[in-house]
Amino acid sequence: MVEDPASTADPLQSDGNSPIPPVYTYWGQFLDHDLTANTDRDSAVSDITRPGLTPLRPDTVVGTLLNLRRPALNLDSVYGDGPALDGAAPDGSLYDGIDLLVGTVAETDRDGNPVPGVHVPPDVEPGPFDLRRDLPRNGVKARVGDDRNDENLVVAQLHVAFLRFHNEVVRWVRANEPEHVGDAAVFARARRLVQWHHQWLVVHDYLRTVTFPGVVDAVLVGGNRHFAPGDGAVFMPLEFSVACFRFGHSMVRGVYDWNENFGRPGRQVLASAPFDLLFTFTGNAPQPFRGATDVLPFNWVADWDRLIDKGAVFPDRFARRIDTRLAPPLRDMQNEGNAAADPEVRRLLKRLATRNLLRGYLLAIPTGQEVAAALGVAPLTADELRRGNSAGLDEALVEGGFVERTPLWFYVLKEAEVRANGATLGEAGSHVVVETIIGQLRADPDSYLHSGWDPGAGVRSATGAPIVTIGDLLRFAGVR
Ligand code: HEM
Repeated sequence: MVEDPASTADPLQSDGNSPIPPVYTYWGQFLDHDLTANTDRDSAVSDITRPGLTPLRPDTVVGTLLNLRRPALNLDSVYGDGPALDGAAPDGSLYDGIDLLVGTVAETDRDGNPVPGVHVPPDVEPGPFDLRRDLPRNGVKARVGDDRNDENLVVAQLHVAFLRFHNEVVRWVRANEPEHVGDAAVFARARRLVQWHHQWLVVHDYLRTVTFPGVVDAVLVGGNRHFAPGDGAVFMPLEFSVACFRFGHSMVRGVYDWNENFGRPGRQVLASAPFDLLFTFTGNAPQPFRGATDVLPFNWVADWDRLIDKGAVFPDRFARRIDTRLAPPLRDMQNEGNAAADPEVRRLLKRLATRNLLRGYLLAIPTGQEVAAALGVAPLTADELRRGNSAGLDEALVEGGFVERTPLWFYVLKEAEVRANGATLGEAGSHVVVETIIGQLRADPDSYLHSGWDPGAGVRSATGAPIVTIGDLLRFAGVR
């Protein structure tokens, strides 16, 4: 399933592009880290490195595999447990008072040599440069609610944006809503506004962009037909976390037009930002920041305008199509498997497609055909499942009996590929994703859906405009 590296080495290549800007790829990863953790690692119940793997009994899986995140869209990956308020012992971790800590970027390396490159918007030379563009760190390690958000630089920069968004919302509440008196009340109001803005954007911007037209409205208006947890029964469907929501892996690109230093055109250090560097410039890399600094060098700050534009003219400003072909670096993930002693295990842990497929097999996730039937969506035909495959992939599908019983992760990618041209998920994949996310909002009595809130009742920019896109949120956060 991994593409030939030769065909994606050129940052200008357009083959394989979707019409979706790259921010949606990593916003998806950020959402995944807010909603679910634990099907992404080996544990007593789920260990894909064991020899002689056979599927677990579904009741064993459901009874023993616990989600390490509250599945609500509450940004616990950003807020952690909240600040110490009203004289409680400070937790000393994520907060400065009721502001979330933000890290500063380095302008020089450890030897005091200047970092090369130019400032990125909104800081343009020769004006003052706002250094608050990194995650807060202890040494190189990020101090954040979920350190998977320091796995690659794109998701890390998005996390920085949310830290800053919270802090700006705190300031906005203090200035515009004097009825909230005292730190505890201001913090509670700010966190609620941040959560509601984010939840609304997830439904009306993220889901409407990545899912099949009509599905969001069908679920908003017609209700949840399949995933409808009762009162207090909060859980995460494994069809979502182990298969369908991993669709984002196929949107990851090998290179990005990242900023003026690592992208086009002009005074750059490199002509593009290759994937391995986006992973090196994080605290979770084997040699973070290439050993030159403990924090992000300023020349690696994201230029979000290059990552959010649906009308962009450059091909390397889009996510890859949602399809069964992955970018070459996902065959050898540099931050994964490095601690494994056994070379075979190490090799396995570095391969994302293999991990997804084995995880689905071990955890006995239903096949694509079973899920399509349960949802009442026309199943993919054998011809559709085999269309466009390489000879090796086709042989594996046929010989393994996977044309009749298709692993759900592969199935949703193929459905997107053949029924939506990779521009969105297909119908079955969309229903699982939309019903799960809107279902979590419906199950959460504190979500925006239960209050009739919309962004018109939220924070406003200096011009009075409400926040209705992820780009508006990034601007309010001061990072574009
Ligand atoms: C460069 C980007 C990414 C990398 C390197 C990456 C890597 C991984 C790895 C190694 C796992 C664990 C696999 C296993 O052993 O089962 C995983 C899990 C997962 N990934 Fe990604 N991922 C990336 C982006 C994304 C995106 C864009 C999405 C969705 C839009 C996503 C959704 C998920 C989900 C839902 C899980 C399961 C989480 C859980 O339940 O614990 N990932 N990813």
